[in-house]
Amino acid sequence: MTCRYRCGDACFHEVPNRSANEYFGDVAAAALSRRSVLKAGLVLAMAGGATAATAERVVAATEPPAGGGPGGLVFDPIQQQTNDAVVVPDGYVADVVIRWGDPLFSDAPEFDPQNQTPEAQARQFGFNNDHVGLFELDGGQFLMVVNHEYTTEPMMFPGYDAAAPTEEQVAIAWAAHGLSVVTLDGGSDGSLTPVLDAPLNRRITVTSEFEITGPAAGSEYLRTSDDPEGRTVLGTLNNCAGGLTPWGTWLTAEENFHQYFANAAAVQDATTRERLARYGVNEEASERLWETVDPRFDLGQEPNEVNRFGWIVEVDPFDPSSTPRKRTALGRFKHEAATINIAADGRAVAYMGDDERFDYLYKFVSDGTYVEGDDAHNATLLDSGTLYVARFTGDSPAEEFDGSGALPEDGEFDGSGEWIPLVSGTTSHVPGMTAEEVLVFTRLAGDAVGATKMDRPEDVEPHPETGRVYMACTNNTDRTAEEVDEANPRAENKDGHVIEIVEEGDDAAAASFAWRILLLCGSPDDPNTYFAGFDKSQVSAISCPDNLAFDPAGNLWISTDGQPGTLGWNDALYQVPLEGEARGQVRQFLSVPVGAETCGPVITEDRVLVAVQHPGEGDDVSFDNRISNWPGGGDSLPRPSVVVASAAGGPPPEDPDEDPTEEPTEDPTDDGGPGDGGPGDGAGDGNDDRGGSGGGSTDQPPTRLPDTR
Ligand code: FEO
Ligand code: CA
Ligand code: CA
Ligand code: CA
Repeated sequence: MTCRYRCGDACFHEVPNRSANEYFGDVAAAALSRRSVLKAGLVLAMAGGATAATAERVVAATEPPAGGGPGGLVFDPIQQQTNDAVVVPDGYVADVVIRWGDPLFSDAPEFDPQNQTPEAQARQFGFNNDHVGLFELDGGQFLMVVNHEYTTEPMMFPGYDAAAPTEEQVAIAWAAHGLSVVTLDGGSDGSLTPVLDAPLNRRITVTSEFEITGPAAGSEYLRTSDDPEGRTVLGTLNNCAGGLTPWGTWLTAEENFHQYFANAAAVQDATTRERLARYGVNEEASERLWETVDPRFDLGQEPNEVNRFGWIVEVDPFDPSSTPRKRTALGRFKHEAATINIAADGRAVAYMGDDERFDYLYKFVSDGTYVEGDDAHNATLLDSGTLYVARFTGDSPAEEFDGSGALPEDGEFDGSGEWIPLVSGTTSHVPGMTAEEVLVFTRLAGDAVGATKMDRPEDVEPHPETGRVYMACTNNTDRTAEEVDEANPRAENKDGHVIEIVEEGDDAAAASFAWRILLLCGSPDDPNTYFAGFDKSQVSAISCPDNLAFDPAGNLWISTDGQPGTLGWNDALYQVPLEGEARGQVRQFLSVPVGAETCGPVITEDRVLVAVQHPGEGDDVSFDNRISNWPGGGDSLPRPSVVVASAAGGPPPEDPDEDPTEEPTEDPTDDGGPGDGGPGDGAGDGNDDRGGSGGGSTDQPPTRLPDTR
């Protein structure tokens, strides 16, 4: 069900990348000297006092090694889980922040899935929350931005008939897609409570107006009968992950947009057909049959409407009247996310993955430079610049890679890479393609210049201190032993891997980079896993890395999507130190309920937020046939929700010698601790008595702070 509704069964279809790009193999030595990635600088003091491991909760041993340690939140890793709960370490509580259907405004009704309407849904929190971003406001408040990737109609509507959805069901689904901006009150106990009717609260849906900006705005490929100018689109689709910019805006990524469009077979022009195939667009009907309600989803009638999706969207969450912008300069593909770093000379750099088997890694470098505090100027940065695609080169001989994942003789999967320019503004660097074609049909441009085919690039995030870039390649079971290379060294890669990239000169705008694989994921019992060289008996198992984040101490956090199908237990959230002796020690912090994926992690000094996406999804589930009742417990309908975990009784102590796990002020099993797995365990009922809160100082002027991820 996840496959059908999230990505239109993308993995069951033929791989859309049929380009002849070679898998790099034995390429001559790199022109680039590999830089040491173990820089000094981030001195991560070990937070002492970790309590001894207990057998029921802990994967392998958990005592951090002497002399190293992660810093940041102090916790003992949890055991892998299969229960219908959010599970967090001892000493922490997990609490629901907001659920699908919770009102953002007092004119919206309380959620009633038996009597849902499009009008209600458009004023309530949407379905299948994915990316989460958090801005700090004055007065202990936060502004949370969340996107709603997709809808799973059989789980949303009683008696849903997939062959004949009603117009009202389609309209509800449109309102359940999109974006939410929610003001939160932060409690001293770590809780986060939505503020009803706060002035910045906002819903954006499939019927909201978006502006197309940048070099491809107005292009012949973006014009439709409703929009002959090619500059205004209704809606955003399949927003997956995203990022916050240093200038206080939100980037959100349109991913598997192809699945909403039908009837590519009706398109006569061969070039157009080829382009549609490269993006995997349906030949016949779509899964949700929206084309039966609105002809813009029918390619036979509107062949260009599909080209108006697949972009990075920039939203100003501090101006509720602002029109969100689709930034064409960043190219069009199945965007997983976009995250920003600032180059040595001040230019803005966006890192972006195209989440499909055998697709590519991209980056955009702006022409203009970031000016702190100049919002009007910074709002222009993503409209003008150069788009690049990555080519990876390994430094070990090709014959050392047999697809098993065994380390090469030099002890590392590593090498160099180059950023190949595709287009600069209105100047194409790809022979045979115009600049507009490169921007609108970016995958074909990547094919033409020999980009490296990766194992499903998901999140790509620059480290806020070191500038090193981390890339999650979630999995690719279609790669054969003949197709492996040093950057994608496993055949039938079901567990995925994480790559660490160091830009030449530590400059985000560099034309070349060094790289190495940080993690080859999977069970540590599998000889062909790799944890940056860390002792495998001391790590938590991890599979299918997806979203990435960093905590204030500089540790990497990884959320997963797919562990039930690989390791056999629920998806999870992990912390991974990047420095010192603990580098590579993967430790599990949290587990999500049955059928769910862990999304959108945000790690602050005292809170961990995750989006619990698609709880209760599975084969043959429906509104009336449930395998999860999270978060409400009993026999309730599962509801995608954002969860916050914090140390029991308030933020953890500043003094690392004081361990919050030693003296919890309440029993964590009551409110989200691991253990009983019963209904409502972990973030079960927390929102019931405060979801409708109208309190809080809603008239406070917001303060823009830089990216708090
Ligand atoms: Fe929506 Fe690439 O996961
Ligand atoms: Ca090597
Ligand atoms: Ca994702
Ligand atoms: Ca995913």
